[in-house]
Amino acid sequence: MADNYLEKKFEDLKNRGKIYQRRVRNSIDSLFKKNRSYRGYDSKYKVSLNELIKIIEINKLTPSARNQQVLRFKPIIENQAIEFTKKIKLGAALPELNLPFKGSEPNGYIIIYSTVPENKWVDIDLGISAQSMLLKAVDMGLNGICIGAFDKEFALSLIEDKRENLEPLLVIAIGKGNETIKLIPINEGDSHNYYREDGVHYVPKVQELIIK
Ligand SMILES: Cc1cc2nc3c(=O)[nH]c(=O)nc-3n(C[C@H](O)[C@H](O)[C@H](O)COP(=O)(O)O)c2cc1C
Repeated sequence: MADNYLEKKFEDLKNRGKIYQRRVRNSIDSLFKKNRSYRGYDSKYKVSLNELIKIIEINKLTPSARNQQVLRFKPIIENQAIEFTKKIKLGAALPELNLPFKGSEPNGYIIIYSTVPENKWVDIDLGISAQSMLLKAVDMGLNGICIGAFDKEFALSLIEDKRENLEPLLVIAIGKGNETIKLIPINEGDSHNYYREDGVHYVPKVQELIIK
């Protein structure tokens, strides 16, 4: 038996344990649970261009209606992100809070454009793309949110590509979320509005999904 046999065996078991822990931590269900919409981020964590590109690249693996692949993406960080933060609206259901709180604004964004006029199939691709990118972000230890309320003219002014029909459709903010978010089960007829209590953000989720 080699001198370091036990040491190697121990190291091997430890590594297998780590891989197992990572698998459990990032199982598909846990990614979905962690994939909440964050409206407050750790400003000390600066999202890098590389991180945004890695997230965008997941779109090379997504399905697409008629495989048209009409979506294009603009990653935004640093000064452009600071400017872009002035052009978004967060937390319409909590207008009194004026989200995001000062000092917890996102500092990375991905703007999603379509190269053809928006239609049902483009929108389905858009939903798949947005959720895929958010899950990828969560898998990388980051968080995000879809933002439909943004200044489209400003989003257009950020790109050099001036081809006809290019249309900004949705924005994804990316960062290290610094909020506590909890899901609350609700019935179909209950209010769907998210709310905050004692600093916790509660998101109601309808439980009856299957129809007869
Ligand atoms: C297409 C889409 C557009 C959205 N636009 C905004 C937005 O403009 N501002 C905002 O604060 N939240 C926006 N959200 C986030 C939703 O409010 C959020 O998904 C919902 O409250 C449920 O929370 P959860 O994502 O944590 O489950 C958007 C979500 C989606 C899917």
